[in-house]
Amino acid sequence: MALSKRLQRIVDQIQGSCLADIGCDHGYVVIEALKQNKVKKAYACDVAPLPLENAQRNIEAAHLQNRAQCLLMNGIESLPEDVDCIVMAGMGGSLMIDILERGKVRVGTRFYLSCHKDTPLLRKYLLQHGFSIEKEWIIQEDRHFYPLIQCVYTRKPCLKVSEKELYYGVSLEFDKDAGSYLENEKKKWTKIFQQMPPSKRKEAQIRLQYINELLDRF
Ligand SMILES: C[S@@+](CC[C@H](N)C(=O)[O-])C[C@H]1O[C@@H](n2cnc3c(N)ncnc32)[C@H](O)[C@@H]1O
Repeated sequence: MALSKRLQRIVDQIQGSCLADIGCDHGYVVIEALKQNKVKKAYACDVAPLPLENAQRNIEAAHLQNRAQCLLMNGIESLPEDVDCIVMAGMGGSLMIDILERGKVRVGTRFYLSCHKDTPLLRKYLLQHGFSIEKEWIIQEDRHFYPLIQCVYTRKPCLKVSEKELYYGVSLEFDKDAGSYLENEKKKWTKIFQQMPPSKRKEAQIRLQYINELLDRF
């Protein structure tokens, strides 16, 4: 089983003792996290039975069934008590917000969230609802850029957050993928700026200012 770069980068960051991968699909994150001893135990969780059957089969093929359990559940609604770290990847930010809204987690639970859309909305929700963002990465896979947000539930909302952070991340790791992402954003917003009539250029102008400030840090 060759793990995609996106999933491998997520596994690389995991710290904890008991993981829940919500929306596990094939179960690859759980399998790799256990193989690399990132955690002692893990739950592969999905709302749909078919992905969970695949996960179960893959877990058994990897001889990890004594350390991994498959759970059919909606989001984190019935999360086992021993879970101290949670991965959610390959979903939209709005769905992640919905899952967090309907679940209950203990203070200190760490999350690794990688959504494919609505990232600023997700950051805003996290910060306003007591999830402290510790670190962020950008993962480039083929021509796509995925954010990875590591946050911990503290129950204390953070109300001081800039628009630049909502759009481009809090404590972003300045590596090669982040550089490519910012260059790509610069191209995109420059084109938008040039296509807009002068009276409608404000948003593009602000975005380009944020992007250039971040690129200056490389
Ligand atoms: C596109 S797959 C992503 C799989 C894997 N996490 C990844 O990043 O490659 C999304 C998975 O999330 C599951 N899912 C969607 N909504 C869910 C929910 N509310 N609770 C748990 N799983 C959910 C789907 O059944 C599907 O298996």
